[in-house]
Amino acid sequence: MTTEEVRRAAIREAGFNLFNLHAADVLIDLLTDSGTGAMSRDQWAAVQRGDESYAGSPSWYVFLDAVRELFPFRHVIPTHQGRAAEKIIFTVIGGPGKVVPNNTHFDTTRANIEATGAEAVDLPIPEAMEPANPHPFKGNMDLAALDALLLARGDDVPAVFVTVTNNSGGGQPVLLENLRGVRERCDRHGVPLFLDACRFAENAWFVKQREPGHAERTVVEIVREMASLVDGMTMSAKKDGLANIGGWLAMNDDEWAERARNLLVLTEGFPTYGGLAGRDLEAIAQGLREVVQEDYLRYRIRSTGYLGEGLLAAGIPCMQPIGGHAVYLDARALLPQIEPLQYPGQSLAVALYEAGGVRGCEIGTVMFGRHPDGSERAAPMDLVRLAIPRRTYTQSHIDYVIEVCAAVGGRRERLRGYRIVEEPRALRHFTARFEPL
Ligand code: F0G
Repeated sequence: MTTEEVRRAAIREAGFNLFNLHAADVLIDLLTDSGTGAMSRDQWAAVQRGDESYAGSPSWYVFLDAVRELFPFRHVIPTHQGRAAEKIIFTVIGGPGKVVPNNTHFDTTRANIEATGAEAVDLPIPEAMEPANPHPFKGNMDLAALDALLLARGDDVPAVFVTVTNNSGGGQPVLLENLRGVRERCDRHGVPLFLDACRFAENAWFVKQREPGHAERTVVEIVREMASLVDGMTMSAKKDGLANIGGWLAMNDDEWAERARNLLVLTEGFPTYGGLAGRDLEAIAQGLREVVQEDYLRYRIRSTGYLGEGLLAAGIPCMQPIGGHAVYLDARALLPQIEPLQYPGQSLAVALYEAGGVRGCEIGTVMFGRHPDGSERAAPMDLVRLAIPRRTYTQSHIDYVIEVCAAVGGRRERLRGYRIVEEPRALRHFTARFEPL
């Protein structure tokens, strides 16, 4: 436990950036759902079976089988986490003059594309930008906008990406029908389609619950259909791999895969372990078997919904419908007195920490406001994400989070904006330092 006084000193010391805190000074850590979950008994047992042979380890084959069971791609390339897969694929297919569309790029995805000189374009449906709109598939890509882009610049598009669920857009799912629509357009223009599949199981669960015609199918069947509609994927096993580290890049194209493996060897490792120990490969393989279990997914999605419903009942505006892995507070709506360029999301995130030791993450103008040309603009939304680690917190922890948010909401008009006093050139939200206005 910490007191409010201790937390105020800690966050000031951290330059009012929640990423700079010592985790020991955080009571309920909702910074991310990435790598922060609890592994199961069977995953820990699998860790004990890890075989650390440099090449061709049995643990590699266990991993490969588990991945291919869901995603039967010809080439599976293990990496230490999702962004390593992104770095490799965009080094292979990116470069100046290229443009990569996505429903919404995650921050590391965008940064890895831009680092090659290519352009990252977000094409979410318009409803995705309206936090209070309860559209059930806000992760969908805007097919008309994709048509227009492919028509105008099809030759410059090395691949189209779809992120499931759409993390930066609120943890919202993508319809299978929408993915099929993207596929058709890619086929028409001869462009490959990739999934950023971090939260594939949560997406499949939403499809089963909400998309007409899928209620009787198993989650595994739905995942396989998602895989069948694309030519490859990037994956962070820190999310729906239920592991603390890991990821992969997979694809069917032989030539791209060869170039990717050559890059893998430079920075990650030999192609049968990538950046991972054999024990990690085992933990991921077991995690993949567990994450598609429907009792787990029902619990997972309901417990996120419970937090969202509690916050809405307490009068805190949230992105609706409630997403899979996180609840997104609408800081711009809660704090209309703070201009977007004075970072209402940062203000709310700091206030939640000071009031109750709850650590969330700004997803708004701090994260997305600075552009490669140096200009700064308001992001489309200013959200604070409360991401729920998998299988970690109890209902009483979540009730406490709701109380803290309600207390901060009760004195919303007293919150003020921030200014940035120090920032790096890319991905500024991780290390920027702030001062209260
Ligand atoms: N794509 C998406 C949609 C993500 O959410 C993440 C990570 C990545 C790619 C990169 O994966 O972290 O293993 O390198 N998201 C975490 C988050 C960090 O907090 O949302 P990674």
